[in-house]
Amino acid sequence: MITSEIIKTRILIIGSNGMLGQRLVQYFSQQENIELLCASVEEKSFIPAVEYKSINIAVKQEVKELVLGFFPDFVINTAAYTNVDKAESEKELAWKINVIGVENIALYCWTIDAHLIHISSDYIFDGKTGPYSENDKPNPIGYYGRSKLAAENSLRSSGVRYTIIRTNVLYGPSKYGRPDFVKWVVTSLQNKQEIRIVTDQINNPTYIDDLVLGINNIIKYKKEGIYNLAGKELINRYDFTIRIAKYFNLDEKLIKPILTKELNQPAPRPLNSGLINLKAETELDYKPLAIVNTFKLINDELSISS
Ligand SMILES: NC(=O)c1ccc[n+]([C@@H]2O[C@H](COP(=O)([O-])OP(=O)(O)OC[C@H]3O[C@@H](n4cnc5c(N)ncnc54)[C@H](OP(=O)(O)O)[C@@H]3O)[C@@H](O)[C@H]2O)c1
Repeated sequence: MITSEIIKTRILIIGSNGMLGQRLVQYFSQQENIELLCASVEEKSFIPAVEYKSINIAVKQEVKELVLGFFPDFVINTAAYTNVDKAESEKELAWKINVIGVENIALYCWTIDAHLIHISSDYIFDGKTGPYSENDKPNPIGYYGRSKLAAENSLRSSGVRYTIIRTNVLYGPSKYGRPDFVKWVVTSLQNKQEIRIVTDQINNPTYIDDLVLGINNIIKYKKEGIYNLAGKELINRYDFTIRIAKYFNLDEKLIKPILTKELNQPAPRPLNSGLINLKAETELDYKPLAIVNTFKLINDELSISS
């Protein structure tokens, strides 16, 4: 007797313990037609009951064993050195992870013809003329942005089937690891701490679950190339913070407006930034939510309102 067997799509998520990675794991682990393997630096997965391997993407042999041992159809790379300020003084480490690591992943994806979906950033731009489309010319002003652009360039010349996703300021209901911006603001204001927030950084903060659905559609439609996947509304960081305080009934007076230059941070920031989603809306059916609706979802999931 001939029995029919469902062929599952094999997805490897690298950086699976990170802010974005853990939501991708939660989403894809609930789908029956997907065989999932997760990998990140830590010994164990933050999300329980998933197949997990510890990995340092900067080590070629480890990447080889991970990719060739699973033979994925798609690899989603969310692993990165993400500390923008520390990258100025830890350049070698940032390069090893953000560039060499991505080159290692690309090499073994190319070897088995897996499709590599890689996450990049609006920090590849200088923030003089945002919001940016996929065709605008990058000009990073800090080392983190330079390393993210170098990774994009490596992918373009690697021969691998790739999708580069550019996004900015991720926030959402990730439970493990460092808190996202919304949770940090809510916790600070609940503890009656004064916070200084910049008025001169403009972008479109991205609700992580919108990004997860966008990545799902890249897989569904097998789209290659560069896509911006960011939030629905362009807003400066101070106004975004006020919106958080209002929604969660917290004291707005604790939020003090300042300029970026007053913070004296080691890394410069792109000020007039943000990403235009038009291509993703047209080709990927990408429909990011209004900010107020994302706050409702975060509150429903994490019960953080006071
Ligand atoms: N968060 C944002 O606002 C934002 C904005 C634009 C673009 N992005 C991009 O989006 C992607 C995901 O960001 P995220 O916020 O989810 O980052 P994240 O929370 O910092 O997660 C990155 C993950 O990568 C892991 N990692 C670091 N070095 C590694 C290595 N050598 N080998 C394997 N794994 C390693 C990290 O582990 P440890 O934590 O233990 O180091 C962490 O679990 C990144 O590519 C980032 O550049 C993020």
